[in-house]
Amino acid sequence: METLSIGQEIVAACERLGRHSDDPDGLTVAYLGAAHRAVAADLKEEMAGAGLAVTVDAIGNVIGRRSCGRPGARTLITGSHFDTVRNGGRFDGRLGIVLPIALARHLNETGERLPFDLEIIAFAEEEGLRFASTFLGSSPLVGQFDASVLERTDAAGVRLADAMRDAGLDPAGIAGLRRDPGTVLGYYEVHIEQGPVLLAAGEALGVVTSIAGGVRHSCRVTGSAGHAGTVPMRLRHDAGTAAAEMVLALEERCSADPSATVVGTAGRFEVVRGATNVIPGECQFTIDLRGAADGPRDLALADVLRSCREIAARRGVLFESELTMNVPATPCTPAWVDALAAAVASLGRPAHRMPSGAGHDAMMMGRALPMAMLFVRCGNGGVSHSPHETMTAADAGQAAAATLAFWRGRGTAARDVPAKAQE
Ligand code: GLV
Ligand code: MN
Ligand code: MN
Repeated sequence: METLSIGQEIVAACERLGRHSDDPDGLTVAYLGAAHRAVAADLKEEMAGAGLAVTVDAIGNVIGRRSCGRPGARTLITGSHFDTVRNGGRFDGRLGIVLPIALARHLNETGERLPFDLEIIAFAEEEGLRFASTFLGSSPLVGQFDASVLERTDAAGVRLADAMRDAGLDPAGIAGLRRDPGTVLGYYEVHIEQGPVLLAAGEALGVVTSIAGGVRHSCRVTGSAGHAGTVPMRLRHDAGTAAAEMVLALEERCSADPSATVVGTAGRFEVVRGATNVIPGECQFTIDLRGAADGPRDLALADVLRSCREIAARRGVLFESELTMNVPATPCTPAWVDALAAAVASLGRPAHRMPSGAGHDAMMMGRALPMAMLFVRCGNGGVSHSPHETMTAADAGQAAAATLAFWRGRGTAARDVPAKAQE
């Protein structure tokens, strides 16, 4: 396999998918919006062009299947998500879809059979942009779909279940998407690193050892709106300044975390119906808290929420918060990590093992299946969740070569069990 040319093919496919966006100035692909449907249509074509049997499931995942021709063979699932954050990057998620498609095309050309059936899943939703949902694509496959999210509404008041029906999808079919773990070999995901570690280490590839857990809250502060010119400062109940103090408390708590592994972000902050000459009556913001271990992360969350309530009481405003996501830290499956490290080392460099600070579909799939992840170096100082996210074709080609080496060894491996079941 000529790694540079397959790398060029992979980068070009990410560029092609990146032309669809909900907003013209960046890359924003929200679940079931126009751009999302266009990307799904392109992925169907890309998969069919690579000789895969293509289906779309009830939640909108696009699935390409390549049989090994052996009756009773188990399936190795690989993939990632094709939705994006607002103003995201072209490789986040999509790399883990187009890389295995390129490999499937290559295998068809050479006639090589893998020792398992291969399924490439383009997960329809992972980022939580439109419905504050996260893992809509992967959670049904491992029996973890939370049916209550079907009632959530987007910013325009559209219910998730209605958005699905409008797109020709079937909420009632979600329960039937669960896979029998006995028929699946495991889950493998390739993802751009989304940080600067590999760049600084001078390595193209990283083998992920564990994925940080995350918890998210949607918060609302309600104060009293008023005239910006007439209400004395001491008589105000300003929801905006109260929320601002809460966000600073979040930053202070996480910066001083004793484990030094907790990070906290308020990525959305909005004065609802705000105007220059109106004291904010309502402010909404989000909390995203993550940590390599769940204990320190949960302690930090409890402290932050307590601070928010104290600030609200002192300022005479109301603080409400709703948990929108809670995913525990996920170790990768040790036997798969070792096998992937050996595959990387077979290319001529020792494998760089590292934890993932970002969340991935692999953490959901890893709840029921053996799981491993390969990271690929992120250019441009490691910036991600940004249109400035980049990757070289040479690195993408290295990732394809390591993936193929890893796959070749998987069919004969002993029955692996998910890391969770080994604890
Ligand atoms: C997903 O990209 C996340 O880590 O938020
Ligand atoms: Mn992302
Ligand atoms: Mn991602």
